[in-house]
Amino acid sequence: MMHIDIITCLPRLIESPFSDSILKRAQSKSLVTVNIIDLRQYATSKHRTTDDYAFGGGAGMVMMIEPIDNCISHLKTQRSYDDVIYTSPDGERLNQSMANELSLKKNLILLCGHYKGVDERVREHLITREISIGDYVLSGGELAAAVIADAVIRLIPGVLSDETSALTDSFQDNLIAPPVYTRPAEYKGWQVPEVLLSGHQANIEEWRHSQSLERTQKRRPELTKKA
Ligand code: ADE
Repeated sequence: MMHIDIITCLPRLIESPFSDSILKRAQSKSLVTVNIIDLRQYATSKHRTTDDYAFGGGAGMVMMIEPIDNCISHLKTQRSYDDVIYTSPDGERLNQSMANELSLKKNLILLCGHYKGVDERVREHLITREISIGDYVLSGGELAAAVIADAVIRLIPGVLSDETSALTDSFQDNLIAPPVYTRPAEYKGWQVPEVLLSGHQANIEEWRHSQSLERTQKRRPELTKKA
């Protein structure tokens, strides 16, 4: 079973994605355990602060090393981790192959970044990997951690009830997924492509594949080079 520890100073921000739908089911099927840890519990100061002013001045608070070190050290007494991931816009950009790779790991820590960032010594000594979910800045790493965990957990065998559906996702083969339709076959005169109603499976597969190629070429031409 995979185990993910998520360290955050705003636990409420990240609880709900794991309390519903596929991520909830993955936990109740015992395919993954997700443990959300309040970093403030590891703070040593009277007010349980986890951030402080930056040495040298400048705007923005910096996450302190001590609570993070206390927390990670405590977690490491319970299991050994494949990766200690820090969510940051400066990290390696998340993509499907990274999600595939992470879905094979056993124990992961996700440390949610905040404020102006984290004391650099955390990155130097405690973190094994930094991941960004895209070239934009979020107000905190919680949403990024939820995105990473979601992309990873849904790939664990047994999480999706239809085993093939993760394999036919967009990007799994560097192709954008083909269009899908459901009933009614005609709505306000807008038709579903005839081939999908034909019942001819080989033609349907061929149509889907050509739609994927065409869409990828049009929307994400850089992916076709990889495909
Ligand atoms: N924290 C703030 N922005 C982020 C991003 N784009 N990816 C990961 N963590 C972040």
